[in-house]
Amino acid sequence: MSGSTDGTGPGIGTRLAHTARDPRAQHGFVNTPIHRGSTVLFPTLDALEAAMRVDTRTGPFVYGLMGNPNSRELEAMLAGLDGGAGAVVVESGLAAVSVPLLATLSAGDHLLMTDSCYGPTRWLCKSVLPRMGVETDFYDPRIGAGIEPLIRGNTRAIFMESPGSLTFEIQDVPAIARVARARAVTTIIDNTWATPLRFRPIEHGVDLVVHALTKYQSGNSDILLGAIVARDEDHWKRVKQCAEVHGHYAHPDDCSTCLRGMRSLEVRLARHEQSALAVARFLESRAEVARVLHPALPSHPDHALWRRDFTGASGLFGCVLRPHPRGRAHLKAFLESLRYFGMGFSWGGFESLVVASDVRSSRQSPPWTEEGPLLRFQIGLEDPRDLITDLAAAFAAAEG
Ligand SMILES: Cc1ncc(COP(=O)(O)O)c(C=O)c1O
Repeated sequence: MSGSTDGTGPGIGTRLAHTARDPRAQHGFVNTPIHRGSTVLFPTLDALEAAMRVDTRTGPFVYGLMGNPNSRELEAMLAGLDGGAGAVVVESGLAAVSVPLLATLSAGDHLLMTDSCYGPTRWLCKSVLPRMGVETDFYDPRIGAGIEPLIRGNTRAIFMESPGSLTFEIQDVPAIARVARARAVTTIIDNTWATPLRFRPIEHGVDLVVHALTKYQSGNSDILLGAIVARDEDHWKRVKQCAEVHGHYAHPDDCSTCLRGMRSLEVRLARHEQSALAVARFLESRAEVARVLHPALPSHPDHALWRRDFTGASGLFGCVLRPHPRGRAHLKAFLESLRYFGMGFSWGGFESLVVASDVRSSRQSPPWTEEGPLLRFQIGLEDPRDLITDLAAAFAAAEG
């Protein structure tokens, strides 16, 4: 995307460069210094009492936990990009998943969770939520408007993730959001893959947007951070209060580091996107590969949906290898022969990564039936020709 996120006003690169900083208030320095601190001092009792009543997005600062100049700037940037009423930054992407769920659900409630969710999100639904008296049903990510009959009288939230973690299904977000709205059910989406530069869920009717800023926004694999962006005041207040009461907090160093990463998000994401497509097309041409799971490829079953709703892709995709007679030994040889792909979790940084996963025991709706190994590639900012050469060499080495 080269224009503005909503077609009006300055283009996205301009907004990323010029929003959320005020050099005049910083002696002319371009970036806001890091404001570490817990205690904020008030000159008078009146000022202290007034600060307790103000909006933490705009009013005087009260206490470190409730915000600081660095978290406030980052939240302003994020809310603007998503077109939301406000954002809440927290210490990790996983905290950004748990906070809106805990803010929305109470004992006796029912949650509909996509079966393609991030592993620890599933774990939260299976461990903590049942202890709180919340029941979860995992639904087929491709269900679309067919989710309606799954909604019960006590269904309070529908959680989406598109594309899904590891398996990359695209969800019909507008259809699900429409059905949910008609039944007064809160919708939440983990939009980490797309970022607001590629998909803006609030425009498609979603109430709360989750970002693991650990990935593309920060972009250097050196911090953990998360955020929730709320469509309106009510949702924002609910999430903000829940984050505060649980003591969630985003460190000003990390907020500043993330904002620095976001200044270059547009150019980095374009490079991740182009290189990932080049690598995905290469993999599609290989006999060792059964299927490439990249929504921007016409071979992807949800390609039409992706084209309809997204303005581009990022640099993360999956692939299923054909089963090999040497099984794990072959997979091990392939992965360990790679020179530029690190083996490790997370993504969105400058360096390429690969992880193998087995989702056969977790995926139920529908069950995962692919027989070959499932890989996830994060394509970094290296020269894609080197990555392709590396993959070709590793395929050859695995045979030898
Ligand atoms: C889709 C998705 N959501 C959330 C998270 C959690 O982010 P964090 O690692 O910052 O807790 C991850 C992490 O890999 C993720 O892949």
